[in-house]
Amino acid sequence: MKQDMIAIIDLGSEENSAIARLIRSYGVYSEIYAHDITLEALKKMPNVKGVILNGGPNRVVDGVKIDVSQDLYSIGVPFLAIDHDTDKCPQGKVSDIKSFIFDTCHCDANWNMDNFIQDQVELLRKQIGNKKVLLALSGGVDSSVVAALLIKAIGNQLVCVHVNHGLLRKGEPEQVVRVFREELGANLIYSDSVDRFLDKLAGVEDPEKKRKIIGAEFIRVFEEEARKLDGIDFLAQGTIYPDIVESGTKTGKAVKAHHNVGGLPEDLKFELVEPLKYLFKDEVRACGKALGLPDDMVYRQPFPGPGLGVRCLGAITRDRLEAVRESDAILREEFAKNGLQGKVWQYFTLIPDTKSVGVRDNARCYDWPVIIRAVNTVDAMTATIEHIDWAILDKITSRILSEVKGVNRVCYDLSPKPTATIEWE
Ligand code: XMP
Repeated sequence: MKQDMIAIIDLGSEENSAIARLIRSYGVYSEIYAHDITLEALKKMPNVKGVILNGGPNRVVDGVKIDVSQDLYSIGVPFLAIDHDTDKCPQGKVSDIKSFIFDTCHCDANWNMDNFIQDQVELLRKQIGNKKVLLALSGGVDSSVVAALLIKAIGNQLVCVHVNHGLLRKGEPEQVVRVFREELGANLIYSDSVDRFLDKLAGVEDPEKKRKIIGAEFIRVFEEEARKLDGIDFLAQGTIYPDIVESGTKTGKAVKAHHNVGGLPEDLKFELVEPLKYLFKDEVRACGKALGLPDDMVYRQPFPGPGLGVRCLGAITRDRLEAVRESDAILREEFAKNGLQGKVWQYFTLIPDTKSVGVRDNARCYDWPVIIRAVNTVDAMTATIEHIDWAILDKITSRILSEVKGVNRVCYDLSPKPTATIEWE
């Protein structure tokens, strides 16, 4: 890292990430550290040009007063103390921060995605040498960007494993193969595990059991693929900065175990490669874009790990799973056509495990309903529904009813979170 950096020290504020993002938006790199960081550790951080002590109300966390070690002040760069008495960063402070980083610390605004990529490529080559790296490539934003970055740094020393568990959206496995194997020339192992997952899930109704089966089976398939390979020393992961910040700079606790590592057996020992671990989500997307990944991969909406498995309610059946996949594809297509893609935070369809009576071709039918969900949120903790134009809903409804087999009704879920959650399971 050759760029200037502002260190933010967490003294119990909820605004650490907001301030780090603000500073980065000015083109100056910034990282968040726990309050008990030592002078030696801070000195090791490259190019620290200033320190922000970011305190919450009275700098008290869980009833305990916290402060930085006093010798930190001898580091020889300017300090700015921010003590909020509200929870939100007051607007007035924004200009103080800007003036601090440029007028007081004389930072150069030279941090951007191009030099982030250059730095990472250099660091990755140094860390990995001529060894091999394994990556579970789901096709989600984070793993896709990690893959693209590693391909740029080490080419075919990266081995990607894409597990198709049958619960991905329409076209996703094909897109992973097309983009990574055909366009980027990646060393990609494609594991068609659809039957294996669906057999394991057959008859399982409980949503938590379904999640556990999908998670455990994923690790098993990935482990089996990893064992077939020789000479892999590293495991790449799409850990991003919120994963690290949320795991407790305040308490100085270790980073939480990430699911795809925690589950691997002891004898499969890999060193971790986490090139995105200092990027926020929007920066990860910008990095993917700069690396040439397609927009629909980089800007895609959130998608749960268990995929369509939690949208095919109750015990998963192949007919309903296909109907969820097809109706979701129609919904996404119509949202894109009508300028709603990228505007609505998350939208999808789901199918409950209850049929209803209808009429088709002058005869009674007994078919599935499709439910449409479209929500907006900032942090997924609460959500409001999108007020979709009736004409768009009408079009989506008529397409689903005519194109998706076994469906005779379409409903729109009007429930906010709370009381509902975003997903139904
Ligand atoms: P809920 O349904 O809890 O969802 O309001 C909030 C957000 O989390 C996503 N979600 C999941 N993501 N594994 C995931 O990786 C899961 O099991 C899971 N369940 C929900 C959901 O899509 C929404 O964005």
